[in-house]
Amino acid sequence: MRPARVILNAKSPLINTPAWLALLDHYKKVKKIHMLDLFEKDPQRFERYSIKFNDMLLDFSKNRVTDETMKLLFDLARQARVEEWRDKMFNGEKINNTEGRAVLHTALRNRSGRPVFVDDENVMPAVEAELEKMRVFSEKVRSGQWIGYAGLPITNVVNIGIGGSDLGPNMVCRALTPYAHNNIRVHFVSNVDGTHIDQMLKHLRPETTLFIVASKTFTTQETLTNANTAKKWFLDGAGRVTEDDIAKHFVAVSTNEEEVEKFGIDPVNMFRFWDWVGGRYSLWSAVGLASIIYIGMDNFIELLEGAHEMDEHFRSESLESNMPVILAMLGIWYGNFFNAESSAVLPYDHNLRMLPAYLEQADMESNGKSVDRQGRQTTYSTGKIIWGAEGINGQHAFYQLLHQGTRLIPTDFIASIQSDVCLRNHCDILASNFLAQTEALMRGRNMDKTREQLEKAGIELHKAENRLPHMIFEGNQPSNSIVIKKLTPRALGSLLAMYEHKIFVQGIVWNLNSYDQWGVELGKKLAKNILQELESGENMHEHDSSTQGLLDWFREVRRESMESEKQ
Ligand code: F6P
Repeated sequence: MRPARVILNAKSPLINTPAWLALLDHYKKVKKIHMLDLFEKDPQRFERYSIKFNDMLLDFSKNRVTDETMKLLFDLARQARVEEWRDKMFNGEKINNTEGRAVLHTALRNRSGRPVFVDDENVMPAVEAELEKMRVFSEKVRSGQWIGYAGLPITNVVNIGIGGSDLGPNMVCRALTPYAHNNIRVHFVSNVDGTHIDQMLKHLRPETTLFIVASKTFTTQETLTNANTAKKWFLDGAGRVTEDDIAKHFVAVSTNEEEVEKFGIDPVNMFRFWDWVGGRYSLWSAVGLASIIYIGMDNFIELLEGAHEMDEHFRSESLESNMPVILAMLGIWYGNFFNAESSAVLPYDHNLRMLPAYLEQADMESNGKSVDRQGRQTTYSTGKIIWGAEGINGQHAFYQLLHQGTRLIPTDFIASIQSDVCLRNHCDILASNFLAQTEALMRGRNMDKTREQLEKAGIELHKAENRLPHMIFEGNQPSNSIVIKKLTPRALGSLLAMYEHKIFVQGIVWNLNSYDQWGVELGKKLAKNILQELESGENMHEHDSSTQGLLDWFREVRRESMESEKQ
């Protein structure tokens, strides 16, 4: 664990609690156990360590856990009062204590008809009204009734946003490509590097493009810079247009009406959400507008239904058969007891290729904290590094390290069984690799088996002796397999909600506020200072010699290139 530079006097007591100490004791006894032995001893291990939920199967049998481990992990969850906190979240209590906010992304997909209160006000009518507003708007765009300034229907939608205002809807669009509208393309611009928007706009025409400026705060520098560039591009390209014409091509998604108006978007064209929706949990809100236009409102409702079903599972199942809880506690087992630093998400479904990037933000921005709810220093590791890529590509890139590296990296393998595109043998090849990889990671291959294999291949052992150690696999690398029948909007909703609740449970056990993100503030503030210095060419703030040296180098290279352009 990183040593704390700022030593807070108070320390979080978690590691001295009974449930933690019991797990530590247990860890010492089982840390060397090989999963292969666990499987050999218990032919029912798969049945006992897997759960089905609707069209989804979670197999967590390939983990370095025994019944005792699981019991102790659930004891830890109970000690942390996970169930009580879960109810507080669903009931709209202000569990985001540093910002004094409720955490209610679950209300956005509450399909039960139950009211949800924030400050004694039922938020469900507002949620329903916004969904209805989006239905009307998206259907107009999708049916070609929403006409641009030149009398043409919209063919391209550009979502301008960053972080949660980009990754969620972007990932949903990629994941649900088979459900996409035939004639409308949706694009996402997030990077303030002008190359991103420039490359996008080159292929678009102002008369058929709709911009959605998505920003919870509507103060995010990258988003507003891109939005202003888009507006200029539109005005330059469209020629003489009126305010009404701009309104046909720019809409906003935000919680901040004042800033939306300041930017020049009429609040009539604003889709709202609320401060009790965290940015990285906002894809279910109006932030999903681009995806609604892409897949249609009915499919978006299916997504919400799937998420709601997972919410109900999370709320009502015992901890022992609760998917998000199981995943969360396994993550804690490896992160805090085996000291695993990272965890990989490996989808074997091309349409889920953006899931790792989405979960990076969801998980690391939520639980990348080192101070607990009471402001005390954590003396234990918290959020793991989440990373990943499409599994099949990863096999030919980084899996070497998973199989034979020195680090323990627990993995989530995710696959869907039925695909809309099952060309000849592609599906089976993909599935066989998915299945084989978790098996290989678990089993490994010892010296005897390796020798046997060489012999079978007709290789003389004495000639291969120096190669032998390199061909041995320790195995015992844990993985979860999450298999869905088909990547439908409903299944995707359940999958994403499962991860959200996993993150929640871990935050509760670590006693964190998973719903603020103070850690992103400092960099933003310093960037503002440096921007002044870049624009003015003057040194206005104190920097370390590295930052000052880099700043000077930027200026020098820019000066040189301006001079050479003049010549
Ligand atoms: O800086 C981080 C962050 O605040 C994320 O939490 C958020 O998703 C992103 O920036 C974008 O914020 P906004 O939607 O307010 O533009």
